[in-house]
Amino acid sequence: MQENTSSKEIKKITDADVRGKKVLLRTSLNVPIAADGSVGDMFRLKAALPTIEHLSKNGARTIVIAHLGRAGDTLEPVVKELTKLLPNVSIKFVGGALADAAAHISEMKDGECVVLENVRTNDGEEKNDPALAQQFASLGEMFVNDAFADSHRTHASVVGVAQLLPSYAGLLMQSEVEHLTPALTPPQGAVAIIGGAKFETKEPLISKLLERHYTKVLLGGALANDGLKARGMPFGASLVSDTVMPTALATDDRIVLPMDGVFQDVDANAEREAYVTDVRATEKIVDIGSYTAKAWVNEILSTPLLVWNGPTGIYELGFVSGTEILAHAVSEMDGKAVVGGGDTLAALQKHTFDTNKVFLSTGGGAMLEFLTTGTLVGLDALRNSSAKIAE
Ligand code: 3PG
Repeated sequence: MQENTSSKEIKKITDADVRGKKVLLRTSLNVPIAADGSVGDMFRLKAALPTIEHLSKNGARTIVIAHLGRAGDTLEPVVKELTKLLPNVSIKFVGGALADAAAHISEMKDGECVVLENVRTNDGEEKNDPALAQQFASLGEMFVNDAFADSHRTHASVVGVAQLLPSYAGLLMQSEVEHLTPALTPPQGAVAIIGGAKFETKEPLISKLLERHYTKVLLGGALANDGLKARGMPFGASLVSDTVMPTALATDDRIVLPMDGVFQDVDANAEREAYVTDVRATEKIVDIGSYTAKAWVNEILSTPLLVWNGPTGIYELGFVSGTEILAHAVSEMDGKAVVGGGDTLAALQKHTFDTNKVFLSTGGGAMLEFLTTGTLVGLDALRNSSAKIAE
């Protein structure tokens, strides 16, 4: 994807007169749902509140559209939480078919908000079907995209609808772009930590960070195993990707691999910490070791800008210590940091930190995409939206 070079400004919702207007708001409510059906993590939900509050306070009739998981998942439990978080806003869940929503919307009063069912229950959402985009657009007079986390998806509720209604960026969208943009032109000494798995989804960003002259790119998680493999070093029974590695991974000394790790034997009944060069064929590398953590803490404390996405270990299996040591360092750093990805955020949220320095992005894939290309399809759609408000 081409890097964004468009000079077209995205209109901001704060500059629009929304009083009495039906505002179609695409927001990101894609939160984890626990086994008991409750919302498992409130971070994204809380991030969605300011725009809903802004619209309500300014007299808009807000129609929220969002997705949750896949078609068939209902937004009802999420809306329940939303109503608790915004006790001063009248919020109603309107489940059922999209075609039936218009009747509810016509009864709305200024300042009220309805949330429609998971957009992915509509055929055509994920194909950006023009007919579905038209159906969404017919519900409102203006479109606001606040769903930064979903704006890498060319879907009808993100892209198609923006071509049909006068379109604006919401407050969260503005904040994400504002905080992540400086990472596209990093200061000297900028450092990135890229962890987790899925090498193929993170490789474009790693290449781009090197192109943008990041001083160091520290690789953790399964990505580090890929690095070891590419450099002909032992990686034991660790998870590695099948993708062909770019030569930079083997040769660019700005890519830093862990020097030691936590190893678990394949039967999962023994763990030890040692230099990565000592990993046995019967062991998996499951986290960075304490020497590496210490060295990376020093990198964090001395960099003017840190980009961090992805844990250093297999977080979901409890190998959290490397990630948590780094998260603590981030909470104390003097420079600035932009941080994203579910597990990385979970580790950071255990600390208090200066929000003027550390920015937690709601975007997982969207953050990676924005940092790689400088834009998202959803942002381009806002930029290129030429529809005018009907008189
Ligand atoms: C995310 O959680 O990364 C976004 O909400 C996008 O969700 P998706 O991967 O289901 O499109």
